Amino acid sequence: MKAVVKLGHSLIGERIELEKIRRFALLLRKRISEGDKFVVVVGGGAVARAYINASRILGGTESFADDIGIAFTRINCMLLISALGEYVYPKPATSLEELRQALHLYSIVTIGGLTPGHSTDAVAALSAETISADIFIKMIETGGIYDKDPQTHEDAKLLSEVGYEQLLQLILENKNTKAGEYKPLDLVALEILRRSKIKTVIVGSKLEDLEAVLRGEEVGTKVKWNDAT
Ligand code: UTP
Repeated sequence: MKAVVKLGHSLIGERIELEKIRRFALLLRKRISEGDKFVVVVGGGAVARAYINASRILGGTESFADDIGIAFTRINCMLLISALGEYVYPKPATSLEELRQALHLYSIVTIGGLTPGHSTDAVAALSAETISADIFIKMIETGGIYDKDPQTHEDAKLLSEVGYEQLLQLILENKNTKAGEYKPLDLVALEILRRSKIKTVIVGSKLEDLEAVLRGEEVGTKVKWNDAT
């Protein structure tokens, strides 16, 4: 199975979760010994956001701030690479072409940001498309997709399945949220995943959730592209 796993600030947040990174690496190693391949897409995390904001305040352009963000995503990839030994391509991929080539040679390839103006969700979706991934997994703190913003609505319900139209509405409603607020999936990513009908599951940031979804168990929220999926 080929899987794309998008990590936001769940693994690499304000402080580096050493034990979690070790356990994540162990889980991937176990799965690759069973024949799986992984593309791990890493976000910038809280530290990147602090630098991006500081750069803006100091007069940097938005695209320069994005370049700073991209640099952090790659540093975060390098942290993961440190834990993955000889099974991982030893540098973050910097293009989709490089990603495809590296995945022929290694069982795990990491990738961060690619182009200013995008997010790592979009990179993750493009990665899934370009390698014809069997599954796209996004890990988020909330554990899945809710019928409304769980951070502001106490009665928000976790959905075990969400249709494309409903997810599109939820994304558009939360379009203008600031960094760190409820952002279940980037709009560009949604459209890419939809056009290639990639199996998409949003799960929690606990490694048990990732393990369960890789075993084929129902966890988090599955995205339905049409009635037949
Ligand atoms: P993300 O916003 O994707 O990382 O990238 P994150 O916030 O840690 O991810 P989530 O929210 O937890 O899922 C960090 C920054 O890097 C730049 C943007 O500035 C983005 O805010 N970036 C990333 C790009 O400019 N292009 C890319 O392709 C990816």
